Formats: sequence, structure tokens, C-alpha cells
Amino acid sequence: MKFRTRAIHVGNQRDEQTGAVVPPIHVASTFVQHHAGEWREFDYARSGNPTRKNLELTLASLESGTAALAFSSGMAATHCVTMLLESGDHIVAGSDIYGGTYRLLHKILNRSGVLVSLTSTGDLAAFERAITPQTKLLWLESPGNPLMSITDLNACVAIAKRHGVLTAIDNTFATPVLTRPLELGIDIVMHSATKYLGGHSDALGGAIVVADKTLYDRLYFIQNATGAVLGPFESFLMSRGLKTLELRVREQCRTAQQLAKFLEADSRIQRVLYPGLASHPGHAIAARQMDGGFGAMLSFEVVGDFEKTKRVVESTKLFQLAVSLGAVESLIEQPAAMSHASYDAADRLSHGIRDELIRISVGLEAFEDLRDDLDQALNT
Ligand SMILES: Cc1ncc(COP(=O)(O)O)c(C=O)c1O
Repeated sequence: MKFRTRAIHVGNQRDEQTGAVVPPIHVASTFVQHHAGEWREFDYARSGNPTRKNLELTLASLESGTAALAFSSGMAATHCVTMLLESGDHIVAGSDIYGGTYRLLHKILNRSGVLVSLTSTGDLAAFERAITPQTKLLWLESPGNPLMSITDLNACVAIAKRHGVLTAIDNTFATPVLTRPLELGIDIVMHSATKYLGGHSDALGGAIVVADKTLYDRLYFIQNATGAVLGPFESFLMSRGLKTLELRVREQCRTAQQLAKFLEADSRIQRVLYPGLASHPGHAIAARQMDGGFGAMLSFEVVGDFEKTKRVVESTKLFQLAVSLGAVESLIEQPAAMSHASYDAADRLSHGIRDELIRISVGLEAFEDLRDDLDQALNT
């Protein structure tokens, strides 16, 4: 079956007892055992819940994996991956990553002795040189956040194989509609399901999808032992969101491409960072690696300083001033003050996140209305 058919039918079996075309939400925290100590598929809701299981089936199918795990947030999913490591192990991560991931890597993992190097994936030779004998994991994000850098995933898989290390990618921005990293040989796909998978700014969640059963077993053990699972109501909302994922993402990409062109031609803008533009340094790789669209996130730098940029993001009427992304309503933010405020200021600048950078998440509103909204805000 095609992607959008699987999004509707895999993990969404009808309820045989009632004929309901949508599976019921199971809220039970515990499940009866027929005999003491005889474990059935479900025994306790942290270890497994039927509604969460349905979502995991859909996610595994859409990411071309064999199994998925749903978490209470994207950060919980990322944390679970990092818990595969032990004291003394080392992670090489791309430098264009979500601010919360930066914080987890630098301010939490260091407490348990896991070391981290941030290196741009724009120079893969330097990226490979950052690998040491202690390196156990390459952490990637493509498109990156907030600079929309594109990482060549095939090349990273080849590097990882040479050094015998795991690869994991935060696939939140691309979604499985545009990039399915497991098909390219990446070991672990992670999502903030809060974003496109849910798609409506009404539920927090995270996910991990893998192809390898042994790796799944290791990750499941960590999830069950540490407990950051997704609840049944959020699982239901994510499953519902996934049914329209492809339609939403394709349309949002189309509008983002139009907005990128509009902004690129505007003298009030210094530069536009969108992989769908020929001017983007990662355009050729993105065209090969992304399936029929370049995402609905884009960043741009205005002519002006921190204050001018702040005024612009505070002046839009349709674009709402908020962190997060990937939902039907468009959002705008200033990374230096918002999504990437958790970076140390010097680190932020050295990674190219300037004060005049604005990031937008393009929703499902009409292109013309979004264009006019940016136009009036830039005149502020
Ligand atoms: C790219 C990316 N990864 C991970 C996260 C963290 O996800 P969550 O907020 O669901 O914990 C976010 C949140 O903004 C994100 O944008």
C-alpha cells in the first residue's frame, strides 16, 4: 500500500466487538492475567497499551521500520536513545540541532560522563575527524534547526559503518513523507511527534522508529525501565493526525516554497535559508534525499538588528509568535531569543544563529494571506 493508505489503515483496524471504524481508546492502567505470572501481550500500561501500540504500528510502517516506541515528548525519545550510552562514551552531533537537544547533550548527559562534540555536517571530512575510539553515536538532523542545513545521510551512514558507530536522526522537520532515513541505512529515527505527526498543536509526544529488532529490544528495555511513555489520549490524537500527514505536509511544502521565493526577492531580507531554493548550499542533496518537497520550515535574516527583528516577529497577525512548529497554523519566532535561547550565547553565534534570524513554520493558510502578513510585518 502507498504511504497515505498505510497512514489510514495500518494500526487503525476496526473494532470487531462493536464495528466501530476507529479503534477505541484504552485507558486501563493494568490488565488481568489468567494465571499468576503468566504474561500476556498487555500487563501494565507503562509496558504496553493497545492505543499506544496502534500508533506505534502506524509509525513503524510510515518510517519503513519494523518497530516504533511512542514517548511522552520528543525530548524523552531523544533521551532514551542517549541512554544506550555509558560513562566515557562520546557522541558526535551536527551543529545545527534543536536547542533542547543541545541542552540535553551538554547539560544533562555530561553529568553521567557522556562526552559530546558538535560539528557541522557541511564539512563531512571534519565531521568524520571528530569521531574518536570512544564515539558510539552520530546524532543528525536534516533539515537542521534553525539554519535548515542539509546533511548527506548516505555519506553519514558510510562514515558510521567505517567506524562501527550507531546513527540516529531527528526527522521532525522532514517527516517520513519527505525523508525515510531507515531506507538510507540510518539506525534510529526520532521524532518530536508534537510537530507534524500530531499536526494540530494539541498534543505533546515523541517517537523512535528502528529497523533492527535487537536495537528495538534495547530501546524498549530503557523506555520501560525509565517510564516516559505516551498516554492513551495523546496516542489517539497522534494516530488521528497521521491520517492526514501526507496531505498536510505536501501542501505546507508548496506554500513554503512560494514564501521562500517571495522573501528571496525582497530587499528587506538579507538571506533566505530554505533547501528548496537553488541558492541553498544543500539544495542538490535535498533534491536527492527529500521526496517531492523541501519541508515547511524556513528561516531568513532581516536587514537590521536584534530589536528590528524582534519588532517584525511581534508584528505578524496570522503567524503566531510561538515556539514549536509543524501544525496547521503558521508560527514565527526569533531563535536567538526563543527556540535557541538555551544555547550559550557564544556557541549560538559560532554556529551561525544570528540575532536577526527569523524562523517560520508554514501552516495550511493560503499563501497570499501569509505573504501579505509577512509583508506588513517587515514594514514595521
Ligand atoms: C526538531 C525538534 N526536535 C525535538 C524537539 C523536542 O520535542 P518535544 O518538545 O516534543 O519534547 C523539538 C521541539 O521543538 C524540535 O523542534
